[in-house]
Amino acid sequence: MMELRIQLIPTGEIIMPPGKNGENYCHSCTKAVGSDGVRITMESALTARDRVGVQDFVLLENFTSEAAFIENLRKRFKENLIYTYIGSVLVSVNPYKDLEIYTKNHMERYRGVNFYEVSPHIYAVADNSYRSMRTERRDQCILISGESGAGKTEASKKILQYYAITCPASDQVQTVKDRLLQSNPVLEAFGNAKTLRNDNSSRFGKYMDIQFDFKGAPVGGHILNYLLEKSRVVHQNHGERNFHIFYQLIEGGEEDLLRRLGLEKNPQQYQYLVKGNCPKVSSINDRSDWKVVRKALTVIGFNDDEVEELLNIIASVLHLGNIQFGGEDSGIAYITTDTQIKYLSRLLGVDGLVLKEALTHKKIIAKGEELISPLNLEQAASARDALSKAVYGRTFTWLVNKINDSLAFKDESYKNPSVIGLLDIYGFEVFQHNSFEQFCINYCNEKLQQLFIELTLKSEQDEYEAEGITWEPVQYFNNKIICDLVEEKFKGIISILDEECLRPGDASDITFLEKLEDTVGGHAHLTTHKLADGKTRKVMGREEFRLLHYAGEVNYNVNGFLDKNNDLLFRNLKEVMCMSENTILTQCFDRVELKDNKRPETAATQFKNSLAKLMEILMSKEPSYVRCIKPNDAKQAGRFDEVLIRHQVKYLGLMENLRVRRAGFAYRRRYEIFLQRYKSLCPETWPTWEGKQVDGVSTLVKHLGYKPEEYKLGRSKIFIRFPKTLFATEDALETRKHSLATKLQSGWKGYTQKTKYRKLRSSAVMIQSWWKGILARRRAQRKRQAVDSIRRFIKGFIYRHKERCPENEYFLDYVRYSFLIKLRKNLPKTVLDKSWPTPPAALVEASELLRKMNMQNMVWRYCKKINPEWKHQLEQKMVASEIFKDKKDNYPQSVPKLFVGTRLNGEEINPKVLQSLGNEKMKYAVPVTKYDRKGYKARNRQLLLTSNSAFIVEEGKLKQRIDYASLKGISVSSLSDGVFVLHVPTEDNKQKGDVVLQSDHIIETLTKVAICADKIHSININQGSITFTVGHGKEGTIDFTSGSELLVAKAKNGHLSVTAPRLNSR
Ligand SMILES: Nc1ncnc2c1ncn2[C@@H]1O[C@H](COP(=O)(O)OP(=O)(O)O)[C@@H](O)[C@H]1O
Ligand SMILES: [Mg+2]
Repeated sequence: MMELRIQLIPTGEIIMPPGKNGENYCHSCTKAVGSDGVRITMESALTARDRVGVQDFVLLENFTSEAAFIENLRKRFKENLIYTYIGSVLVSVNPYKDLEIYTKNHMERYRGVNFYEVSPHIYAVADNSYRSMRTERRDQCILISGESGAGKTEASKKILQYYAITCPASDQVQTVKDRLLQSNPVLEAFGNAKTLRNDNSSRFGKYMDIQFDFKGAPVGGHILNYLLEKSRVVHQNHGERNFHIFYQLIEGGEEDLLRRLGLEKNPQQYQYLVKGNCPKVSSINDRSDWKVVRKALTVIGFNDDEVEELLNIIASVLHLGNIQFGGEDSGIAYITTDTQIKYLSRLLGVDGLVLKEALTHKKIIAKGEELISPLNLEQAASARDALSKAVYGRTFTWLVNKINDSLAFKDESYKNPSVIGLLDIYGFEVFQHNSFEQFCINYCNEKLQQLFIELTLKSEQDEYEAEGITWEPVQYFNNKIICDLVEEKFKGIISILDEECLRPGDASDITFLEKLEDTVGGHAHLTTHKLADGKTRKVMGREEFRLLHYAGEVNYNVNGFLDKNNDLLFRNLKEVMCMSENTILTQCFDRVELKDNKRPETAATQFKNSLAKLMEILMSKEPSYVRCIKPNDAKQAGRFDEVLIRHQVKYLGLMENLRVRRAGFAYRRRYEIFLQRYKSLCPETWPTWEGKQVDGVSTLVKHLGYKPEEYKLGRSKIFIRFPKTLFATEDALETRKHSLATKLQSGWKGYTQKTKYRKLRSSAVMIQSWWKGILARRRAQRKRQAVDSIRRFIKGFIYRHKERCPENEYFLDYVRYSFLIKLRKNLPKTVLDKSWPTPPAALVEASELLRKMNMQNMVWRYCKKINPEWKHQLEQKMVASEIFKDKKDNYPQSVPKLFVGTRLNGEEINPKVLQSLGNEKMKYAVPVTKYDRKGYKARNRQLLLTSNSAFIVEEGKLKQRIDYASLKGISVSSLSDGVFVLHVPTEDNKQKGDVVLQSDHIIETLTKVAICADKIHSININQGSITFTVGHGKEGTIDFTSGSELLVAKAKNGHLSVTAPRLNSR
């Protein structure tokens, strides 16, 4: 279940209603006016506000008091709340420590959330610009200003990180994001340095466009750089360093690399690195920074060769710095050792001798003629330094261009990406000694202040006008007068400086100062030592002029102004560089430059023009401001130096900014938003107001007891003059929220339960109806399929006798299929089962094959199953069948009776008989009846079979032995009697003639004899009678007849007559 939650932020921070233009409020207050008019004290809110101050200066009761302003900053700074708004301007105080407020979670918290809903943050500014760009399709810019070390560069990095992480991205765009992020460490390595003010001070101005596609993904970028402080390459003030890259290379570079560059791992060895006497800085780790930079170069798209060439140049600058000149006495400079020249010649790919010559001579072309003259010691040193500065400065510009190539948005088809510009430019700077660079930097800040004034005032004014509100213009200091003093044509300081640089004759820094005094000496914002009053004079040098900047007074020493403005490099040095084999240098020093005899623009004029262009760029965009403040000069966390801060508050024009904000009305808010937020405070507007929004707001504020002078109703917004009015309203809302929350909660619970129940019910109904639908559809489909099948079946049946065709193939297949299925179920299980389903016409042949296969299969299975004994039995039965089947009447009766091994066992045979058999193994024995050959008397005998012979045995006597070999044949009748005759040869004296026997197991007995004697084919089955020999040529006859029962007797004709019962009808 959803719960209603009220968000209370422990610091008392947060939650401010609308907008971009500063319609803010704080949610807690000392007193609140409830809709019932009861004043409620809110102690906790009071303490919170007391402790952390207001998050928007507009809410300061005493908004004209600088002390109150600074006190508010102090309170917040103490609580680590470094951000505060003045309307939509973000004031940021450098904490000089890592605060846990830049995590991904923080980014998420600010993403897509209105400005006023969350506490002030740099992410809120970033997000607001991004959303304005996306929703209004207007290019944006974020102007970050503040003095050196106030946190501008950090702020711009935070913004870039915010976009890199929160904006959508495709794969290809991820590389752009990486490059955007990685451009920073590279530019910082080459363009930042440790100064007294800041360990990582940007020594160039930077304006960066981030380009977004229509989906809001960053797709490209472009950087404009402004005036690099080149003089730092050759000289650093005490406590300062040269550009980071030199130290990074020396500390971090691999040994191999340093050897190739001819560098030693000790910055103290290099003249250009020792001037400030602080090669090491505790807050900087050159070695690890080197790794970061080296990696970043790769990400940006440098290949190894390019990196090497770039580092060759950096190393060359260091070698140049170490070139020493001799010739003090003669006035003609010469180079004392060749070591550096050797390195330089190799690293830069130039001729050593030419370089040597160029460093000690100057070439001038006058009236088409080349004049070469030697330099003195001082001139040579300055020529060398000029070369170092030029090489470094141009390489830096090349680097920016290279980065721009890498960031360029490559999609030609997408012409106009939306843009957010980030301006991180050197802040206002005042040192003990201020030179040309500070002059330019501070001029730049004047220009930005001018832009700020114009834009903020203008937008404020526009709004009042648009809303039809009368507004008293506020007084503020317009610094246009200073800008004009610097840049005006003919009369401005830059013009005067240029004039001095260009005019023939002995122009010098001092003549420039004099010219200043002559031309603009009377200006309210300029003074010189000569023109100043006694008090000022004491703090000014003779070679200084003082400018009263909007941010304060700065004394500039004119020393070096002309040189720096001229920024000249002797022609022969340029020529040498143009001949370099280093591809970066060939791009930096173009030969065309040598042919162009026109004087190049002076540095100041170049700077002025580029600033004018920058102003144009910024004017075309919707600006947001971040004003950075530095809390102390010691770069220390937690230290709030009030004097320093008051100074910055003043020169950043923050008080004026606030005054302008507050001049008319402290807050403004669109009617619908105001009404939406506060409608619960008035019974008529709660819970909904049906009428016009403006009338709702009017009813509401009247109910709250607003006095007429406290507010104005514009066209679309309500304007509230004093913060306290809004505080009271806000606090009343706070109280109301608690009681509402309870009510809402119970109402909500009931509502959700009811909704849940309704939802469940309607879901159940819906599921039911769906399910019914599904079932019905399934049924219908089944029916359709059935109809189809039946139709096909009938058609197939009609065409079943035709050739196979589409009409009948289903039917035919079906018939085949069902026959095979039926067959499978009804296969005969035994060989005796002859049943077989009738096949369809098409399967007759297959059916027959199958039937045979099945039979074979059954036989095979049966055979596999039978044991040896049974096999033996069957073999005997087979023999019996062969001999007797269909030939002897009692054969069928014998079939089901099993043949036995023997009919007489050991005990039934006389042991004497067994003894006289000797080794001969008995195979079968059966009791038989023997009929005498003469009288046919019946006698009981035993018939014994061995492997070789058959024996007739009487009691203990072997009466007769018949060798199988001499057994001529066996005769039986075809009737059911058991009489048989063993025919023996008559010529054998031992034999007494054929033997007439009768067995009750005639079939078995004769089968055994036939098998033992191998006489299967010697058994004769006779019809009617059998003739046998009696001995001595005499014969006897046995007659067989059918009768009712078995009778064996001697007949009258002397034959033996056998009557056999009829068993089978023949
Ligand atoms: N938001 C911040 N949080 C923590 N430290 C900061 C922050 N902003 C600045 N700093 C510290 O102050 C130093 C100077 O800030 P930087 O942005 O380089 O100043 P600027 O560009 O204005 O000269 C940084 O190197 C960093 O140590
Ligand atoms: Mg900076």
